[in-house]
Amino acid sequence: MKTVITFGTFDVLHIGHVKILQRARMLGSKLIVGVSSDALNYSKKQRYPVYPEKERMDIVAAIQGVDHVFREEALELKGEYIKKYSADVLVMGNDWEGRFDEFKSLCEVVYLPRTDGVSTTQLIAEIKKYA
Ligand code: CTP
Repeated sequence: MKTVITFGTFDVLHIGHVKILQRARMLGSKLIVGVSSDALNYSKKQRYPVYPEKERMDIVAAIQGVDHVFREEALELKGEYIKKYSADVLVMGNDWEGRFDEFKSLCEVVYLPRTDGVSTTQLIAEIKKYA
C-alpha cells in the first residue's frame, strides 16, 4: 500500500503527461500530484502557463489513477510535501535524473523515462505556426 507523489506543470496536457502519471500510479496504490503554481512557473521560465493553475489541477485530477492533486508553491518545499502526504515513493521524469536524490532519506526516489518526441514547449511552438 504505497503512496506515490509526483510533480509537474502539466500545461497543455499531452500523452507524455498521461503516461508518466499511469506509470507512477503503478508503483503504488495511491497517487498524489503536485501541480506547480502559475507563480512558480513564472519564476522558473519567465512566462505563465497557457492554462491557469486551477484548470491544470482540475485536468490532472480528472485522469484515472490520480487520487489527489495539490498546488506546488515552491520547488524547495518538495521535502515538506513528501512528509505531509506520507509519500513512500517520489517519481520524477528522467529529465530530472539525480536532482532529487537528497530525498532518498525520506522516501524511495524513482526517475522514469520521458516519452520521446513530445513536450509542452514543443507543442506551443507548433501551435504558434498556425496562429
Ligand atoms: N514528461 C514525460 N514525457 C514527456 C514530457 C513530460 O514523461 N515527453 C513528464 C516530465 O518528466 C514530468 C511530467 O511529465 O515528470 C510533467 O512535465 P512538464 O514539465 O509539465 O511537461 P513538459 O512537456 O516537459 O513541459 P515543458 O516543455 O514546458 O518543460
